[in-house]
Amino acid sequence: MGSIFSAALLAAGAAAAAKFIKNKDIDDLNPQTLAKKAVNSVKLTCDTSVPYDNGAALTPPMGWSSWNLFRNRINENLIYETAKAVKESGLADCGYQYINIDDCWQSSMRDENGKLQGDFGSFPSGIKALVEKVNGLGLKLGIYSSNGTLTCEDLPASLGYEAIDADTFAEWGIEYFKYDFCHNVPIPTQAPKIEKIVVAEAGTANGKEYGPDEAVLTGEAKLIDDEKLVSGKYISGLSSNMGCCEFPCVYAEKDGEYILTLCIRKKSNNNKYAEILVNGTDLYKTFLPATKSFTAEGRHQIKIRLNEGLNSIRIYNPVASRQDSAAIQYADMGRELKRAAREYAEKNGCEEKPIVFSICEWGRNFPWNWGAHAGNLWRTTPDIMPKWSSILGIYEFNVLLYKHSGAGSWNDPDMLEVGNGNLTFEENKSHFTLWCMMAAPLILGNDIRKFILDDGTVDTENPTYKILTNKDVIAVDQDPLGVQCRRFRTNGPEDVLVKPLVNGEFAVCLFNKASSETEISFDIGEIINKNFVNTPISQEYLLTDLWSKEEFTAYGGFSAAVPGHGIRLFKVTVK
Ligand code: GLA
Repeated sequence: MGSIFSAALLAAGAAAAAKFIKNKDIDDLNPQTLAKKAVNSVKLTCDTSVPYDNGAALTPPMGWSSWNLFRNRINENLIYETAKAVKESGLADCGYQYINIDDCWQSSMRDENGKLQGDFGSFPSGIKALVEKVNGLGLKLGIYSSNGTLTCEDLPASLGYEAIDADTFAEWGIEYFKYDFCHNVPIPTQAPKIEKIVVAEAGTANGKEYGPDEAVLTGEAKLIDDEKLVSGKYISGLSSNMGCCEFPCVYAEKDGEYILTLCIRKKSNNNKYAEILVNGTDLYKTFLPATKSFTAEGRHQIKIRLNEGLNSIRIYNPVASRQDSAAIQYADMGRELKRAAREYAEKNGCEEKPIVFSICEWGRNFPWNWGAHAGNLWRTTPDIMPKWSSILGIYEFNVLLYKHSGAGSWNDPDMLEVGNGNLTFEENKSHFTLWCMMAAPLILGNDIRKFILDDGTVDTENPTYKILTNKDVIAVDQDPLGVQCRRFRTNGPEDVLVKPLVNGEFAVCLFNKASSETEISFDIGEIINKNFVNTPISQEYLLTDLWSKEEFTAYGGFSAAVPGHGIRLFKVTVK
């Protein structure tokens, strides 16, 4: 695995380096500086060790989303009719429970309180009313926004509005939230240069000053002499998670609100960012604008709370790369969702509805490195399309990421295209089976209303319906162990995948990427001996074909014919 990731890292590093070369005069740069810059642009330095842990999505979430088929042509009737069809067709009984509205549900206007609201034409009854109707069917409603200034369809989005939007969603009763990455604005890696800080009780003018000599400097933080400043120096080296300054003895007369003024040395004309950690517990995040240097000094004020007596104030910028920026921004939203769900339940004396948090930045910032800290699932790849090449490409990448998936935190190779476009029956079946083997979220993307015939009965002969309702295959996806399959063998167009299941059972999927039928074999003893599963060696195994339901006895080696672009899926049990 290590080599795969270093390859990905190198590729990203090379891309970053290429971009960097374009932007700078190449003569300035020696290869070492260039390499360092490239690696820095992708490395993760911020702390992502604490798991998200909102108690949701302990198995991969299952449901439906409006995007793959309906795109921007959605309205409240379509969403409700789909929910009804999910229930009436029996899909709900198979485990599909989230009805997710993707992009284009929003009005382009926030309301007078700054809240998002449904489009006046297509969602006239409002989202809360729709949640109640969908809940009435025993199903849950999901919604969408972007970690940017606008969504991918250029509608209002949530960057900078995390708290208010999370509160709105919790108040509406939303239980699944997909957070896209269009129109993202990365957090600056630059930190301000601090001449001194001033702390004043809110509403009073007499602040107490703490100069640069009173700070404890760590990492690359250092004092720079500067005759333009009254104090004659400032603290530099706080950018890119490289250094930190702490004022350990900030005195407050009493507990309460204070104004912290950062007196800064205006230098580069870049946006800046700083985190202020008070007494090791209270975190304040602040953005500083790019500065014109008509004068040398600037002031930047933040409201903070201090305790009576001595306090510590730590100033730093934890963002060293795009990866850090995305990790922090997604974690910020995740935190607000958890807070909002909890507070709404507390205020209203009702049971808390945890919100499944679906990170969707297309794998761009290596979300498998930090996604389990920020949310419940993360897209690993670009947008899926109902084409075999797209399914295959996504599979080839996502299958490598098995180590990062687990209960409550899943790799997301994107929503299903089963039943869409021109995928053949075998291709649809393979797509579904591969996603189940990879413990992927099963979010359907087809028109569920088609499963209900004119006379109100369910079209159980519909091939797409048959695929999506195969409970044995779904059980592989939903297995409580929560382990993504590993590729046991790859040989030209033939893959053998193995997924451990509870009770020492496991699933073996034979995948034929070529267009004509082939015979693929595997040895159960070898799978066990190579520790792909936790199953005792036995003389005899029972193999159940989870599509045809045929049963076989195997003594070790086994082989099966696999159609072109097809799969065979077996559950293996010790006899
Ligand atoms: C991005 C996402 C898609 C979908 C669209 C909506 O492309 O990756 O899944 O949500 O935005 O605009």
